[in-house]
Amino acid sequence: MTLVSASLLAADFGCLRDEVKSVEKAGCDWLHLDIMDGHFVSNLSFGVPVIKSLRPITKMPFDTHLMVQNPDEMLPWFAESGSDIITVHLEACRDVVATLGKIRALGKKAGVSLRPQTPISGLENLLDKLDLILLMTVNPGFGGQTFMPDQLQKIADVRTMIGQKNIYLEVDGGINPKTAKLCSNAGADVLVAGSAVFKTDNYAEALAELKK
Ligand code: DX5
Ligand code: ZN
Repeated sequence: MTLVSASLLAADFGCLRDEVKSVEKAGCDWLHLDIMDGHFVSNLSFGVPVIKSLRPITKMPFDTHLMVQNPDEMLPWFAESGSDIITVHLEACRDVVATLGKIRALGKKAGVSLRPQTPISGLENLLDKLDLILLMTVNPGFGGQTFMPDQLQKIADVRTMIGQKNIYLEVDGGINPKTAKLCSNAGADVLVAGSAVFKTDNYAEALAELKK
């Protein structure tokens, strides 16, 4: 089954509570929370107080994507604010095995994300230490970018690498009904979608289109 994780970055920040309730009611599976520090990526988004204030209003799992330079020191913040999955960038970790261990020790599912240019070889010795692999299909930092089709082979290669292991394969960036299909066929089972959900006027239809 393919899951959709709606990226809050594309929601109307003036009424986040309504946006989250609407997307959950429309059948969304997870809520994707893009945390940007202005260093790892050249953009800022939102932080812990926003997550904390949304936690009580929805049952959707919080899928937190840390695009930050020093994830280790922030892990307890996101664990305490109600994230269920915490994903760090391989490129930002000095000791990724230790970082993944810290996430699991906090009782959360541990994810690793790769930028489009980062090879998948760095994942090989991590497979028993993580619960989710997030492949970026745009350069991280901004919503609304165009999907990079050269990432499809990488998705297929990671799917092969995962084999029968219980690991989610999530894709993020430029996902719309057309690219969603390409990614699912290549082996992705979680689709992050910002614009393709929140920039439409019917979230239920948008989610159904993505899952088709
Ligand atoms: C980009 C973020 C994405 C972004 C996706 O750095 O990681 O999650 O919100 O936005 P869309 O779906 O609009 O490409
Ligand atoms: Zn993201």
